[in-house]
Amino acid sequence: MGAVFEPIKPYIGSIVHVSKDEMFTEEVARQCREMLDERTVLVFPRANLTDAEQLAFTDLMGARVDFTTRQKANQTAAEDVYQVTLDKKINRQPEYVLGTFFWHMDGITVDMPPPKASLLSARKVAAKGGQTEFASTAAAYDHLPEAEKAELKGLRAVHSVAASLSPIADAIPEEDRERVTSIGLVKEHPIVWQRESGRTTMVIGTTADTVVGMPVAHGRALLHRLTEWAAQPDFSYRHQWEEGDFVVWDNTAAMHRVIPYDDTGRMMHRTSVAGTEAVS
Ligand SMILES: [Fe+2]
Repeated sequence: MGAVFEPIKPYIGSIVHVSKDEMFTEEVARQCREMLDERTVLVFPRANLTDAEQLAFTDLMGARVDFTTRQKANQTAAEDVYQVTLDKKINRQPEYVLGTFFWHMDGITVDMPPPKASLLSARKVAAKGGQTEFASTAAAYDHLPEAEKAELKGLRAVHSVAASLSPIADAIPEEDRERVTSIGLVKEHPIVWQRESGRTTMVIGTTADTVVGMPVAHGRALLHRLTEWAAQPDFSYRHQWEEGDFVVWDNTAAMHRVIPYDDTGRMMHRTSVAGTEAVS
């Protein structure tokens, strides 16, 4: 019978009801790929996947990619699985995780198309905080007034890790600051992304620093306004994690962020599906 998709909010999110027996079939994978394009976030409650199962599902969704090799230290998960944790024994650069407290897209400052999908399993949830929020940049663009859409046409933003870490720069130990903020590339992307699917999404979030050809303050104000617009309740969804939950989202059509949490052992296992569309 395949998977059954239950909408969470009008413009974002579906809960996926599927048995573990069927989850790894090509038919269900095809349904999920389609629904990911339509709904942006897919939630598999209490799926309790092993790394091997998560990787198998990742492979069914597209080509596996790992764009974070340099941040790993003493990883205790399978190859190609990135552990999101504040535990310094595992993640040598917890600043990266602090940076995820702010709206962002994954893989925007690396030299490859942004990952199509990010897949996250909750291995251990935070005692407090740690919910993940998703904001649909597709719904956000669709609902912009036509005059604002026209104003965005052709605009390009400059993205960097330094920009994404600027809200927490003074929380990074001074001796590490230069090294940490210089990771990644400085990349210019159009704000409006016309997709092969016919949809339009936006490339925004804390990596976006300035708008080309605009005074710095004007550009930053515009980027802030677009981010706030996309984050409004109608276009966003907050996931309250339960242990074993598995969430897949379209990284090319959404920003995400985590509600701040302390290191009480929260552990998420992330895999990624390579993007096939360069931002253009
Ligand atoms: Fe992220």
